[in-house]
Amino acid sequence: MRIDIITIFPEMFDGPFNHSIIKRAKEKNSVKIHLHNLRDYTSNKYKSVDDYAFGGGAGMIMKIEPVDKCLSKLKSERNYDEIIYLSPDGELLDQKLANKYSTFENLILLCGHYKGIDERIREHLITKEISIGNYVLSGGELAAAVFTDSIVRLIPGVLSDETSALSDSFQDDILSPPVYTRPRDYKSLKVPDILLSGNEKEIRKWKLEQAIERTKKRRPELLSGDE
Ligand code: ADE
Repeated sequence: MRIDIITIFPEMFDGPFNHSIIKRAKEKNSVKIHLHNLRDYTSNKYKSVDDYAFGGGAGMIMKIEPVDKCLSKLKSERNYDEIIYLSPDGELLDQKLANKYSTFENLILLCGHYKGIDERIREHLITKEISIGNYVLSGGELAAAVFTDSIVRLIPGVLSDETSALSDSFQDDILSPPVYTRPRDYKSLKVPDILLSGNEKEIRKWKLEQAIERTKKRRPELLSGDE
């Protein structure tokens, strides 16, 4: 998979993309992530990527020209499955959407800033809008990092034990069961006996029961299907 990210803050990705699973995925060549600084696609000497809104209104608007230039260059080099604008107006990211995008070859992520982006970009240049939650972030970078993490970890071979992605919370529309590690007894806080029993069938049954119980209590809407 190749992911091209268009941003005015490429440094914001230094942390999330250079540690843990994404770092490993890059090293294994399971994903190639290319960051593009939108300011490199401006034709004015101040490298400004934003301007005042026609018709007035508070806040600056991201201009179409640099976005179009950057997208045109990328699109002339390869075909993209989707050009995604991270936006609170978009389709809400969930595990199903992450599964779908983890199978794609080439994606572009556009990170917005200021008071929004020129509507013509949304109408004519991008193919999809995705939101990571019903709240407003200062820009699309954190959303792009979250989206990238959610799909890259699902690419086959990225997680050392592939079943660990399959048993993630949400993968079957239920939450994960509780997990424990050593010591068996910490200040009288004990690990459930069943997990120490060695009876694999009973342990599997217990885990499923716990997962369903937890989902009923915390996220009942996942079970009823009306999220
Ligand atoms: N940009 C600002 N807020 C956002 C959100 N909730 N999801 C995706 N992109 C965003």
